[in-house]
Amino acid sequence: MSAIVDVKALSEKLGYPVEIVSEGSVEIVVPSMEKYKRRDGVYEPAWAPVFYNPRMALNRDISVLFLLVYSELRGLNELVVFEPLTGSGVRAVRYAAETGAYVYAADISPAAARLAALNARINRVEERVRVEIADANEAMHRLIRRGIRPTLIDIDPFGSPLPFLDSAIESLGVGGVLAITATDTAPLSGTHPRALRRKYDVVPGRTAWEKEQAVRILAGYIIRRAAAHEYGARILLAYYSDYYVRVYAELRRGARRADEALEQLSYGIYCPICNFTGYINYPGPRCPHCGARPIIVGPLYRGKLCDEELVEAMAERIDRMKLAESKRARKLLNQLRSECSIEKPYYRLDKICSMLHLSMPRIEEVVEELNRLGYKAARTHFDPRGFRTNAPHIIAIDTVYQLALRRIIATRS
Ligand SMILES: C[S@@+](CC[C@H](N)C(=O)[O-])C[C@H]1O[C@@H](n2cnc3c(N)ncnc32)[C@H](O)[C@@H]1O
Repeated sequence: MSAIVDVKALSEKLGYPVEIVSEGSVEIVVPSMEKYKRRDGVYEPAWAPVFYNPRMALNRDISVLFLLVYSELRGLNELVVFEPLTGSGVRAVRYAAETGAYVYAADISPAAARLAALNARINRVEERVRVEIADANEAMHRLIRRGIRPTLIDIDPFGSPLPFLDSAIESLGVGGVLAITATDTAPLSGTHPRALRRKYDVVPGRTAWEKEQAVRILAGYIIRRAAAHEYGARILLAYYSDYYVRVYAELRRGARRADEALEQLSYGIYCPICNFTGYINYPGPRCPHCGARPIIVGPLYRGKLCDEELVEAMAERIDRMKLAESKRARKLLNQLRSECSIEKPYYRLDKICSMLHLSMPRIEEVVEELNRLGYKAARTHFDPRGFRTNAPHIIAIDTVYQLALRRIIATRS
């Protein structure tokens, strides 16, 4: 495609410098990244006239993989995607080119909508990517009025997805998938507790498993909003990467389904004294293990972070696809598959060892030893220092203690 696009002429026509990049199976025109760099040399996508962030390529890879595998597992043929915050249109064009979906895209910025439409034409998917200049909520409501119901709605905003969540849920009809990105990780992980309470209506706190809490708060919030509209939300895939949270939730209409989904909500608990970690149904004043005052956060989603069958099929499909970040996608999906059947939040090995005043054993040893004792245990994609297990708290701590002692004895003998 690079041969047929005259970059200089296009830059003049659009009024800003552009370049061509490949991502997945498409090539798209984006603002010249060289021109929008901070003093430290790092490209700042928000400074460009149209938003394109190459660091989100993995997010888009997973989106395309998800839709392909989800539609196969559910036996769906006609795929319809709404992407009402489209920026350069890269995501919309990839959905159309890589999954065959019909995509309704929108952006409030005329420059973005123009570039997205151009990118659809250049990749010869203009018949399947409709782009309009519109506010995302208005665009979704217009599509509802036209009776168009999506298989998947992808909300990928700056910061919080909350302003668009209700319209997205209302757009679904009998059901469909919400694919939601949140980059407001500071509130979600408890760094900004007031913003967390204000925006997500939760008892704010900051646990030692703050990345997992961010994912579980967003998933829990989606379940609560969906329930308010009488949809039951099932979390199919939820993860943390780079600086964002991503949740895929399948919604099915019905008050009973909504009630059942709400059963998956709890409060997260973390004790900064004994490192106890888990869930409780009501915020209590004491750690169930040591009686100290714990950190409580929630309500949040306490269930599985992924559907193993779906994630396994996604990982298997990678070799047959042209993705931007195949290696990272495979690693993320494999990690998720191994950890997601353990619902209890992860422990931080460094925090446990600092409590015990002992040096850290290798984290793989901890996982292996817990497995040997008959418990589920795995490392987590959330944190290289984290491991999760279904072992009772005292067993988890004692396992680390015994391994740390063994290490001391081995070094001294
Ligand atoms: C993070 S960017 C989208 C990136 C895109 N989804 C991707 O994968 O590259 C957010 C976009 O939302 C647009 N936007 C912000 N507020 C909007 C609104 N109320 N309605 C529609 N678009 C909006 C911005 O112009 C920007 O292009």
